Amino acid sequence: MAHSSASFLTIAVVSILLLANGASAASHLNFTDMLVNGGQYTTFIRLLGQTQVSKQIDNQLNNSNDGFTVFAPTDNAFNNLKPGTLNDLSDQQKVALIQFHVIPKFLTFTTIKTASNPIRTQGNGDEPYNVNITAQSNGNQFNVSTGVNNVSVTNALNVTAPLAIYSIDEVLLPLDLFGPKTPVTPANAPEAADKKKGSETNETTSSDDTSPKGDGFSVSRSVGWFGWLVMTMMSFGMLTVM
Ligand SMILES: *[C@@H]1O[C@H](CO)[C@@H](O)[C@H](O)[C@H]1NC(C)=O
Ligand SMILES: *[C@@H]1O[C@H](CO)[C@@H](O)[C@H](O)[C@H]1NC(C)=O
Ligand SMILES: *[C@@H]1O[C@H](CO)[C@@H](O)[C@H](O)[C@H]1NC(C)=O
Ligand SMILES: *[C@@H]1O[C@H](CO)[C@@H](O)[C@H](O)[C@H]1NC(C)=O
Ligand SMILES: *[C@@H]1O[C@H](CO)[C@@H](O)[C@H](O)[C@H]1NC(C)=O
Ligand SMILES: *[C@@H]1O[C@H](CO)[C@@H](O)[C@H](O)[C@H]1NC(C)=O
Ligand SMILES: *[C@@H]1O[C@H](CO)[C@@H](O)[C@H](O)[C@H]1NC(C)=O
Repeated sequence: MAHSSASFLTIAVVSILLLANGASAASHLNFTDMLVNGGQYTTFIRLLGQTQVSKQIDNQLNNSNDGFTVFAPTDNAFNNLKPGTLNDLSDQQKVALIQFHVIPKFLTFTTIKTASNPIRTQGNGDEPYNVNITAQSNGNQFNVSTGVNNVSVTNALNVTAPLAIYSIDEVLLPLDLFGPKTPVTPANAPEAADKKKGSETNETTSSDDTSPKGDGFSVSRSVGWFGWLVMTMMSFGMLTVM
């Protein structure tokens, strides 16, 4: 009895080990090598190396069950960018740009068309690094829209689980880096806090000139609107108690 359940356990453990081994062997593929074989992705490969994104993908391919979908811009795509576009990006922005071309999920021509928008990429920044996919129901064609540009995808380099690589003729431009520049909002939290501090300092300074120290009114002024509200509530409370 004990013997048979022990051998069952052994068999189970061995099968799990074999399965795990088989799975990692199957996913032991080199992403960069595939692009090299593609022949027209030298800029993308260089950026993948510089930003270490290729290392991330190679590492994660071994461990991720979801796989990856990569949009690989051709050398032409990079050549068609406005001159200086890449040079104007900081290292961190380059990482975000390259990660924007990676979806942490294996998507075939069929499954990408039914994936629900927006689709999260690996990019990170102030604004979400999402894309929307639109497609006609028939045919191996879909469009990726970033909010800045729409890129047509018709050509796959290799779609074999767990990695799908599609070729694109235009670099995907994330809204966060290439969208209309939103004016700097003063409502921004740390800035607002600084402003408040500043005005309090100035208030104190000016109250030195205009009114004697310890004057109740100037205190309530520097405490501001919130203080006024609290004081009003307090006097209201006192009235109620009375
Ligand atoms: C993939 O191949 C490239 C060059 O062909 C090499 O530099 C890199 O180390 C390889 N990555 C892995 C995870 O084997
Ligand atoms: C991925 O797994 C294979 C097989 O287990 C191993 O040889 C390879 O070094 C692993 N690659 C990385 C980047 O961990
Ligand atoms: C994709 O975009 C092209 C133009 O960029 C447009 O002609 C085509 O209709 C779009 N297709 C889909 C499925 O959105
Ligand atoms: C995706 O589509 C939604 C709904 O139409 C829209 O609000 C959003 O801005 C789009 N995002 C991108 C990146 O195009
Ligand atoms: C991109 O495509 C979406 C929907 O497919 C459309 O609403 C949007 O206007 C297009 N944007 C550009 C820049 O072509
Ligand atoms: C696609 O990738 C798989 C491994 O994932 C490989 O076996 C196959 O040969 C590749 N096909 C091409 C056309 O490169
Ligand atoms: C505070 O005073 C300084 C110098 O007098 C001035 O430059 C600054 O703009 C003032 N800040 C505010 C919030 O009024």
